[in-house]
Amino acid sequence: MKQRTEKMPDIAFRIMEAIFNIMDVFSPPGKRLDNFGIKKGFVVVDYGCGPGRHIKRASELAGENGKVYAVDIHELAVRSVEKKIEKYGLKNVSPGIIEGYNSGISNKSADLIYALDMFHMIRNTGEFLREFHRVLKGDGRLILEDGHQPREAARKKVNNSGLWKIVKENKEYLECIPV
Ligand SMILES: C[S@@+](CC[C@H](N)C(=O)[O-])C[C@H]1O[C@@H](n2cnc3c(N)ncnc32)[C@H](O)[C@@H]1O
Repeated sequence: MKQRTEKMPDIAFRIMEAIFNIMDVFSPPGKRLDNFGIKKGFVVVDYGCGPGRHIKRASELAGENGKVYAVDIHELAVRSVEKKIEKYGLKNVSPGIIEGYNSGISNKSADLIYALDMFHMIRNTGEFLREFHRVLKGDGRLILEDGHQPREAARKKVNNSGLWKIVKENKEYLECIPV
C-alpha cells in the first residue's frame, strides 16, 4: 500500500518558490552546505530538495566524480531542479520523485544525506528515518534540520527510531550516524 505523504498543493509550492527566490537574493542558500563536510567524489542526497536552491553548491562540492540526487515528493520540485540543471549545466545532479518515503536510490550508496527545512512536514517519521538508513553507507552521515519544530521534538523522533545516533548538534541541525 502506498504511504500517505505530505505533498503540498501546487499553488502553495509556487508561492514557496517565489518567496525562496526573494530570500535567496539576500542570503545565498548554497553557503549552508559548506559546513556539511561534502568531499569530492561523494554521493550526496538532497532529500526534500524543493525547488533545488542547494543543488548548485552541492554539485560543485561533490565534483565531477561525485553525484547529487535531488529528490522530493512534488513534481514541481523535480521540474524546477531540471531547469536549474539545464541553466547551470549540472552534469552530476539527478532529480527524482519520492514515492511514499521511497526515494528509489540504491541501498547503502550515499555518503551524505541532507534534509533541510522539511522534517516538521513528515507524518511518518519512522518510515522517513528508515529510508535514510537504507540509502546511507555505514560510514555515512545524515544532516537533519529541525525545520519548524523545537529541537527537543526533533531529537526525540530521531532517538525513538532506534536507527540513528546523534553525534553533533548546532543551532540549525542534528548530525547523525547510522546504528
Ligand atoms: C519548505 S520546503 C524546503 C525545500 C528545501 N529543502 C530547502 O531547504 O530549500 C519543503 C520541501 O519538502 C518536501 N517534502 C515534504 N514532505 C516530503 C516527503 N515526505 N518526502 C520528500 N519531500 C517532502 C516538499 O515537497 C517541499 O519541497
